[in-house]
Amino acid sequence: MDKPAPADHPIHDLLRRRWSPRAFADRPVEPAVLLRLLEAARWAPSSYNEQPWAFLVATREQPEEFARALGCLVEFNQSWAKAAPVLMLTVAHRIFEGKGQDNRHAFHDVGLALANLTVQATAEGLFVHQMAGIVPDKVRSAFRVPPDWEPVAGAALGYPGDPSALPEPLRQRELAPRTRKPLAAFVFTGDWGRPAPQLPRPAAPPA
Ligand SMILES: Cc1cc2nc3c(=O)[nH]c(=O)nc-3n(C[C@H](O)[C@H](O)[C@H](O)COP(=O)(O)O)c2cc1C
Repeated sequence: MDKPAPADHPIHDLLRRRWSPRAFADRPVEPAVLLRLLEAARWAPSSYNEQPWAFLVATREQPEEFARALGCLVEFNQSWAKAAPVLMLTVAHRIFEGKGQDNRHAFHDVGLALANLTVQATAEGLFVHQMAGIVPDKVRSAFRVPPDWEPVAGAALGYPGDPSALPEPLRQRELAPRTRKPLAAFVFTGDWGRPAPQLPRPAAPPA
């Protein structure tokens, strides 16, 4: 199913077409494709080029690993993500390697890596659904995450599936229109809340 962003200004087609489905096709992701997604993540920028990310990856062809990753998601996410061919959990290194200082941008950089992966996924015909709904302590124990690393989020990915295969409340959400705040709500110049001058002026109310 396509669900392109109804963007107010033209954006790149890869960004326009990306969305977060919960229905996935029963089709594995080819190992070479998965490698390209991870390679795209690898080339994300990061503060001091620290690359403070780790990806815990499991495919449905590895049932034990898949179950381990699935068990780290909250129940709601498990209900639909169990049908995805690939699950990932991202983990951030909270301190700089060798320096021991706090890396305040570690989560930011993990997000950038995931964004790269998502754009590459869209180019490959795949879709990624990220998940805040993980149980970090479970990730920590199930994968023996070192103490200075912190679980960030999960992601389910695969080729798009048929929304009618989803149970009713999820099907409705799958078909719901995509919405965003207007640029004026978060693009400011000068004082906080003052819309940047590049933004189109709001239409005057009818006289
Ligand atoms: C960091 C992050 C965490 C998210 N957590 C969840 C989640 O736990 N469960 C879920 O179903 N969707 C989750 N989402 C998906 C968002 O709800 C979705 O991206 C948002 O509604 C915008 O829709 P779109 O991605 O289709 O444009 C998450 C997305 C991100 C980026």
